Amino acid sequence: MQTILSGVQASGHLTLGNYLGAIKNWRELHKDGRYRCWFFVADLHSITVRQNPAELRERSIEIMTLYLAAGLGQGENSIFFQSHVPQHAELGWVLGCYCNLGELSRMTQFKDKSGKNEAGITSGLFTYPVLMAADILAYQADLVPVGADQKQHLELCRDVAVRFNGIYGETFKIPEPFIPKEGARIMSLQDPSMKMSKSDPNSNGYILLLDKPDTIMKKIKRAVTDSVGEVRFDAENPERAGINNLISIYSAATGKDFEQIAHEFEGKGYGAFKQAAGEAIIDVLAPLQEEYGRLSNDKEYVRSVYTKSAEQAREAAQKTLADVYERIGFIPKEER
Ligand code: TYM
Repeated sequence: MQTILSGVQASGHLTLGNYLGAIKNWRELHKDGRYRCWFFVADLHSITVRQNPAELRERSIEIMTLYLAAGLGQGENSIFFQSHVPQHAELGWVLGCYCNLGELSRMTQFKDKSGKNEAGITSGLFTYPVLMAADILAYQADLVPVGADQKQHLELCRDVAVRFNGIYGETFKIPEPFIPKEGARIMSLQDPSMKMSKSDPNSNGYILLLDKPDTIMKKIKRAVTDSVGEVRFDAENPERAGINNLISIYSAATGKDFEQIAHEFEGKGYGAFKQAAGEAIIDVLAPLQEEYGRLSNDKEYVRSVYTKSAEQAREAAQKTLADVYERIGFIPKEER
């Protein structure tokens, strides 16, 4: 059985980008039944920027509940909080000693985030990809389903694993990214040159997984388009980035390809297309929202899942960590 692992930061409410780029694919891969899956709320990652403690707690539970509402809790999956498994941070420290400053300086996400916030750049923000590598390698993951923005972090993870294996022998499995064909890079509805992000100050730029149907429809209707008026994906023309983004969303939500979509809306304007796109998103999110409502009232169940999962995660991650420590030359711990 192959191993899948992925996570989402607890730094904001989840967006449609998180869903179409990541969680939807986790669910599809999980349903496939061929994988042992580890999904976690990356709370350690989220403190690379300052968090309000009460909000962090609330959001962490919200994300955990959304994972379960998305159906990830069924079967043999483990769904846990990163901070409940100390092996992530321990392995993160080790891997940081096998990762060069230059490699981390090239990370575009670090450059983007630090550019926006010079006064508050912490060393945690800089070394964040090392912790992400530890998340993945601790479980010997084969496949890591993520959106396109995480590709570079995964490449770094692979480089560090190959380096470590080169020095100490086969210790880590080299993970492959799984980046979906459609939905890997959902852009802001207001500025399609920027990725849709939960930290966008303009709330019309993103759709939240828990947005109400009329809010979703309003945001889609307000989404920027162009004056061409033709519903056809056109990667060549940067002015068409807004409609391209909506077509990608519609495609990821319905499973229809670009050609089918162009055919469906031939001769129809953006108004009709936006209506259909809004309805498609509402339809995709409705079962998730309904199940979220139900699970929010079953806190005991949610707690039981993350508690049991964290135990399983500690056990699995500890196996890797013990092997790593031994290879490095640390004295084995005597259990009394
Ligand atoms: P995060 O929290 O920024 O995003 C979670 C997942 O959602 C995807 N995503 C998107 N996909 C398409 N379009 C978008 N606009 C969009 N925005 C976000 C991300 O690619 C990601 O898959 N470092 C990670 C969290 C993490 C992780 C890991 C992931 C920590 N450790 C280990 C995988 C494996 C992050 O910040 O994702």
